Amino acid sequence: MKPIKVGLLGIGTVGSGTFNVLKRNQLEITRRAGRSIEIAMVADLNVERARELTNGECEVVNDANLVVSNPDIDIVIELIGGYGIAKDLVMKAIANGKHVVTANKALLATHGNEIFKAAEEKGVMVAFEAAVAGGIPIIKALREGLTANRIQWIAGIINGTTNFILSEMRDKGLDFAAVLKQAQELGYAEADPTFDIEGVDAAHKATIMASIAYGIPMQFDKAHVEGITKLQASDIRYAEELGYRIKLLGISKRTEDGIELRVHPTLIPEKRLIANVEGAMNAVLVHGDAVGATLYYGKGAGSEPTASAVIADLVDITRLATADPEHRVPYLAFQSNSLSDLPVLPMAEIVTSYYLRMHVADKPGVLADVTRILADLTISIDAMLQKEPAEGETQTDIIILTHQTKEKNIVAAIEKIEKLDSVFGAVTKLRLEELS
Ligand code: HSE
Repeated sequence: MKPIKVGLLGIGTVGSGTFNVLKRNQLEITRRAGRSIEIAMVADLNVERARELTNGECEVVNDANLVVSNPDIDIVIELIGGYGIAKDLVMKAIANGKHVVTANKALLATHGNEIFKAAEEKGVMVAFEAAVAGGIPIIKALREGLTANRIQWIAGIINGTTNFILSEMRDKGLDFAAVLKQAQELGYAEADPTFDIEGVDAAHKATIMASIAYGIPMQFDKAHVEGITKLQASDIRYAEELGYRIKLLGISKRTEDGIELRVHPTLIPEKRLIANVEGAMNAVLVHGDAVGATLYYGKGAGSEPTASAVIADLVDITRLATADPEHRVPYLAFQSNSLSDLPVLPMAEIVTSYYLRMHVADKPGVLADVTRILADLTISIDAMLQKEPAEGETQTDIIILTHQTKEKNIVAAIEKIEKLDSVFGAVTKLRLEELS
């Protein structure tokens, strides 16, 4: 059978990894795919570098439009990123009848519904294993491996940069700003790390996973997004004293009223496997009603780990290219006419446990006032930690862990606690998940 022809848009870190792994493992991949997969054309603004990387083995152009309009190209790999030109090119490729492989989580989380609709109308595939958790085959697992299950919840460490920063903060007792600087010097964090540290990148990935887990359209605009920039070294220390680690988690949960979709720093029991995922590694915990908890671990970024996911998509498309569209795996795991309108819940309605830290006067009655406020709002206390005031000090920190309650109850309690004369400054609130 003649080779399937691929056009690559962008030959940076992931693009060059894809080129190299495809070449190195060509025989093995062809035996799996049933025909050979050939990168026939590469578009990159740095043509010189692209030519060097591809050793003259394929055509190199600086205009990506030439790739998406080339009638010889069967599959377009989009590795440009962002939602500007990348979106135009993906839509043009689809309009020209090409299958698309993309690692672009921002594009899918924000414009996925439009892209999948166009692809369905044209009968082409859009594959995106590399968009979530790099080399971990989590899309395949959710969309196919767990297809028997009603997925109940997903919790993932899906941003390596922030996991590296949190690991360093815990290991070295440093504050966020100091570790970020170090991460940038080491090349882990981008020069503009906003999407990573503010939780946006993780929210894109959580949005995509929620969509295929619960059969709902992409709804990034409804996700709660909170990063790690305000996290203090003292909270990591106190959490540890109580037996918890703090991780930036992308969480989605199915409840009777709707779907919870949120990214925020989260306390998790230190004995959970996922609590021990350190450095830039990723891990995703998925709970299905039949299978129970399953855990997926690996590299969430990098040249060849991400290429591994891109090539898995190329092989899938190669195998299914001649199949009727209705015999293919649906884009969002559920048939497009069977998507659910289950709402994404506002944060006030989510249910979880909480870590509260407050700075208080060390005198009789303070704790009684705080616990009365919590009791009046039916918030039950799970654990408490009061620190000895420092030498000569009359103020101290109190840390309270609560049982599960609605977010709106905690918000109301904090408002009242902050009004007490004996409580100084703002109350720090972090969410806690048992993940059991
Ligand atoms: N910036 C991401 C991370 C990798 O730090 O995990 C690409 O998704």
